[in-house]
Parts: sequence; structure tokens; C-alpha cells
Amino acid sequence: MFSHKKKSEERFSLALVTGASSGIGTALCHLLAAKQIPLIITGRDVERLNALAAELLPFVDVIVLAADLADAEGRGKIVKCMHEYHPNLVINNAGFGLYGEALTYETNAQLEIVQVNATAVLELTLEGARAMISAQQKGVVINVSSAAAKQVFPCLAVYSATKTFVNQITESLDLEMQKHGIRVLAACPGMVATGFSSRAAGQLLNPNEKGVMTASFAAEEIWWQIEKRKCIHIFDWKVRLATFFSYFLPKSFKARILIKSVESRHPPRKIILPPSHP
Ligand SMILES: NC(=O)c1ccc[n+]([C@@H]2O[C@H](COP(=O)([O-])OP(=O)(O)OC[C@H]3O[C@@H](n4cnc5c(N)ncnc54)[C@H](OP(=O)(O)O)[C@@H]3O)[C@@H](O)[C@H]2O)c1
Repeated sequence: MFSHKKKSEERFSLALVTGASSGIGTALCHLLAAKQIPLIITGRDVERLNALAAELLPFVDVIVLAADLADAEGRGKIVKCMHEYHPNLVINNAGFGLYGEALTYETNAQLEIVQVNATAVLELTLEGARAMISAQQKGVVINVSSAAAKQVFPCLAVYSATKTFVNQITESLDLEMQKHGIRVLAACPGMVATGFSSRAAGQLLNPNEKGVMTASFAAEEIWWQIEKRKCIHIFDWKVRLATFFSYFLPKSFKARILIKSVESRHPPRKIILPPSHP
């Protein structure tokens, strides 16, 4: 299937990228294609995936695989593809969050965050590693987490908890899998100008906001991390510094700052009660 149009400069013979249809995922695909690494690109939005594939095809071979990571069937499609093609670079990038108190969203919406950000990441990390081992390949799984993983984060509670899970499982699996020649890494960006905020807030936000990095900058940082095989990488340096100093702040003070920052990004929301409630 993959003719390797031009020889890859890197060791990776095939990369699978989830959440390729937007933001950091799209930027990563452009970066990998420029390095002539063939790609399997996934997401739910087939039109956007096909448009991206058309842009990448002059440089590398591309397989488009539409799948919803919130359901087991969608995840199964990606797992099947991994066992067929054995990508030796797996980038679990798809993810989303919702700004506001957890009770202001339907419980199912919060469970969907867990499915996409945690369940899918775990499943694709384990199955991606099995696929590499069965093909006698070494490789890298990198999970796009968040600097929020390091915080107790009211108004972004479920999201930040899933990212804490991602960091924790990544570090343990990395130690377990190194003997098989597989590294498991977690990238922790600060704020990036992508579709993330508009999905999280339900409205478009100012991309020129201070302290926001571009998706292509985030992709470059992730590539640097892959090359260095750094298990946890928080970026950029300002985010690293803020994360470090946040450890010394009292929890309630820190929570107030975080709540304020999120509240400025979404319209006021009411809590959801059962229909029978007067
Ligand atoms: N932007 C930030 O400020 C920021 C900061 C820290 C970490 N991150 C992390 O970076 C990663 C990429 O996000 P982004 O900033 O690039 O946001 P984005 O532009 O909204 O992209 C999110 C990607 O995830 C995919 N996705 C969402 N739900 C999915 C589902 N149910 N099934 C399959 N794919 C799904 C989307 O594809 P479809 O819509 O086609 O399904 C899209 O390609 C996420 O894990 C996010 O948590 C972002």
C-alpha cells in the first residue's frame, strides 16, 4: 500500500494521527509529511480529512480513516487499522473539553470527554504498542495531554482529570514498555489557537489573546519531544514557569485564578436538573 514516495529521513515508516482534521493534529500532519513520513489520518469530519489528504498527497502516502473515538466501534476501526499497517509512530492527539461547572452540562457530555480523552488514549496506546511488538518494530506513542493535567481545575474539571490520567498512565506505561523498544510520551501544551476553545466555550474566541501559541509551534514542540524521547514535556517555557510556581500557591487561591480565566471565556451557564424538578 505504502510506496514510500521519498525515503523518510527519520526512523518512522508510518504515523497514525488522531484528531488530524483540525488544530494541532493538522499542523502535525503537515510537519510529518514534510519529513516524508507516510500517514494514517483520523477524525470524524471526513470532508476536512479528505481536504487535508489532498494537500499531503504530493509529499507522502495517506490513508483517511473516519472514526468517532467516543464509541467502541469507532475505536475498533482504528485498532483494526493499526494491526493491519503497524504504524511505529502513534499520536493520540484528539481531545476536547467543556468550559464551565460540570453540572451545567448533561452528564453524557462529560462522559464523552472521558471516552475521547482517556478511554481512547488508553486503548490506542495499548493496541498501538501490541501492533508494533507483533511486527517486531520499535516505536513511539505520544499522547497530547495538557498543562491542565498538572492542576486541580474547577470549571474544566473533567477535562483536566482526563489529562492527569493521561500523564499518569503515560509515565507508567513508558517504564513498562521501554524493554520492548517502545516509548510512551505525553505532550503538555498551554493554550493553543485551535478549534479547542470554540468547542469548549460554544463560541468563537479571540485567537490573538496573550499567551496563546500557534498550532504549528505546538507541532514543532511535539516533534522535538519525539526526537528527544522526553516522557513529559510542558510547553512553552512560560507555561513551564507558571506550572512550577503554581505548586507553591494555596489551592483555593489557585482555583480562584483558574475559575476566573475560564469564566472569561464562556457565556454564563445554568446547572442542569432533572425534568421533574419544579
Ligand atoms: N488548544 C488548546 O489550547 C490545547 C491546550 C492543551 C492541550 N490541547 C489538546 O490538544 C489536542 C488537540 O486539540 P486542538 O487544540 O487541536 O483542538 P481542535 O482544533 O478542536 O482539534 C480537536 C481534534 O480532535 C478530534 N476529535 C474531537 N472529538 C472527537 C471524537 N469524538 N472522535 C474523533 N476525533 C475527535 C477533532 O476531529 P473531528 O472534529 O473531525 O472529530 C479534531 O481533529 C487535544 O487533545 C487537546 O486536549 C489543546
